Amino acid sequence: MSVFETIRQRRSVRTFEKKKIDNSVLEELKEYAKQIENPWNIEVRYVFMDAEEYGLSSPVLSGEPMYIAALVDKTDHAEEAAGYAFEKLMLKAVSMGLGTVWIGGTMKRELFETACGKTDRERMPCITPLGIPAKMSFKEKMMRKGVGADTRMKSEKLFFAEDMDHPLKADSMDIHDALEAVRLAPSAVNKQPWRIILKDGLYHFYEKHAKGYNSDAVGDMQKIDIGIAVAHFDLVLNERGLQTELVISDPGIPVDEDMEYIASVKVSR
Ligand SMILES: Cc1cc2nc3c(=O)[nH]c(=O)nc-3n(C[C@H](O)[C@H](O)[C@H](O)COP(=O)(O)O)c2cc1C
Repeated sequence: MSVFETIRQRRSVRTFEKKKIDNSVLEELKEYAKQIENPWNIEVRYVFMDAEEYGLSSPVLSGEPMYIAALVDKTDHAEEAAGYAFEKLMLKAVSMGLGTVWIGGTMKRELFETACGKTDRERMPCITPLGIPAKMSFKEKMMRKGVGADTRMKSEKLFFAEDMDHPLKADSMDIHDALEAVRLAPSAVNKQPWRIILKDGLYHFYEKHAKGYNSDAVGDMQKIDIGIAVAHFDLVLNERGLQTELVISDPGIPVDEDMEYIASVKVSR
């Protein structure tokens, strides 16, 4: 299956079969995790944990046999790097038939931080359960309804050319699909804080801030969303044979007050 198809089919999974994951599947995922890179070049550490052994659970989940925690040093751009790299790992898991969901809030954070051995210089922004997806529970359906998980904003509200007044028209199917992959990305409370402005051949990524997503334990949760979005954009283009390069240089385009420039992606054939 192509990465684009995996991105289209992915959804948060919160109900799992009460079954262990095959060792061979788990080993393949752990091997994959070792070689994940991110364009910020910040190391992301993954810890795989048995739910029963460590007494781990989350009120929004049921049946999950395992968890993965992602850890990063408390540095600039750590959230974006964690978002990018951990999403790659989750998409790999999805392509292998497993279910995942980003969890940054609905868990007993201390329990997970102790179980994964988080050090003082690190943050554990998010975790994911890992398991075989089961039929959605009533609770899960209600939760999806609550955050409008099955809807996304229209591309005209998210992607622009030159300035915020002109919606972006993709100039190729590859760019069209990469933008669609951004639009379909998961985000905290489905806030979809990513905005992109194309100017001078660079795709500039911005964060549209909502209140209440910044904390000492996580950092800025919506910067994780941006990291995920950049990963989706890169993955689709790289799969189509295009090169992507991350550049951090604010183009100074006038934007809404609640928007913050994060990074730009240069695309080349
Ligand atoms: C950074 C981040 C944090 C999230 N935290 C939680 C969480 O604490 N609990 C939860 O149930 N879902 C959480 N989610 C999942 C979102 O609610 C979900 O991605 C969104 O509603 C869209 O649904 P979908 O992933 O099925 O497309 C989180 C997602 C992201 C990206």
